[in-house]
Amino acid sequence: MKKILITGGAGYIGSHTAVELLKAGMEPIILDDLSNSDAKVLDRLEEITGKRLTFYTGDCNDKTILESIAKDHKLEGVIHFAAFKAVGESTAQPLKYYRNNVGSLLVLLDFMQEQGIKDLVFSSSCTVYGQPEVLPVTEATPRQDAESPYGNTKKICEDVLVDFVKSKPGIRVVALRYFNPVGAHPSAKIGELPLGVPANLVPFITQTAAGIREKLTVFGDDYDTADGSCVRDYIHVVDLADAHVKTLSFLQDQEIDSYDVFNVGTGNGNTVLEVIHAFEKVSGVKLNYVIGPRRMGDVIKTWADTTKINKVLGWKAQYSLEDSMRDSWNWQKGLKK
Ligand SMILES: NC(=O)c1ccc[n+]([C@@H]2O[C@H](COP(=O)([O-])OP(=O)(O)OC[C@H]3O[C@@H](n4cnc5c(N)ncnc54)[C@H](O)[C@@H]3O)[C@@H](O)[C@H]2O)c1
Repeated sequence: MKKILITGGAGYIGSHTAVELLKAGMEPIILDDLSNSDAKVLDRLEEITGKRLTFYTGDCNDKTILESIAKDHKLEGVIHFAAFKAVGESTAQPLKYYRNNVGSLLVLLDFMQEQGIKDLVFSSSCTVYGQPEVLPVTEATPRQDAESPYGNTKKICEDVLVDFVKSKPGIRVVALRYFNPVGAHPSAKIGELPLGVPANLVPFITQTAAGIREKLTVFGDDYDTADGSCVRDYIHVVDLADAHVKTLSFLQDQEIDSYDVFNVGTGNGNTVLEVIHAFEKVSGVKLNYVIGPRRMGDVIKTWADTTKINKVLGWKAQYSLEDSMRDSWNWQKGLKK
């Protein structure tokens, strides 16, 4: 079995990717400092996969821990999820974000080059496109100035990767630009675990439905969209996890020293109100929501053109918005127990 290092593998997307990697016959080796996750996820992963996954607690900025993992395991690829992701916090504490998100990538690239590990999948984001002028967004859509230090770390990391690959390090890299990851594993054993007040729509919806939050505010219903609320491309986390598996296979067929980017989305946009109504339909719970004023800095509408990933990787989203809402709700209900 090929061993793949997953940094941040105890987190939301990383844990789902560990499951899909194992299903595809690869062995995930997880490194996570648990700064935004819980070691209990390993028990959950064992319940899903029937296997105790190899786990190291540690900071990806610490090359010595990476080296000790490489001593124990012959690594054949890396998926780099480890990063901080709270947009608001990044504005208040930018250095924390640059240090962790950019710093950890630099350490990791040094490490990969030294160890001769060739394949890297990097977690980027549709945030690099800002509010695009033309929709849907293709990979050729120009990137815009970032709205937050968090968004800027993704842009900078992409630039670092381009320059690094140009320097002929013997490494192949794909940056996946995720649209809006939602949903949870259909087993309801793993899912998104926001600490404190959720910054994303779907955890806010499920927590409101569960009575943890009193009400949900929709920020603006007077935009130029079908029902006036903002539009996003909501991608089920299991589909997203599968995109990483397909990317690793793709990388193995590339020339060494290659860099590419792919959008990962469904190719469809849904408004905030459509998401709310899809949730109400599958859960049977009436949500307490109000329409509030527009929120500064919100992208009004964005969704992915997925032609490239469909054609080149043979990947296509399988789950619907309703599947995502059902799985998010089952996960939330399981958390209450
Ligand atoms: N969830 C989203 O909406 C979204 C969208 C676009 C891109 N991304 C990116 O995808 C990646 C994964 O996101 P997620 O939603 O799973 O987040 P997450 O917070 O659930 O997972 C990230 C994991 O990385 C760990 N971590 C952070 N810094 C670390 C370090 N220095 N060393 C070791 N572990 C560290 C955290 O403890 C956490 O378990 C991130 O890079 C994020 O920026 C996420």
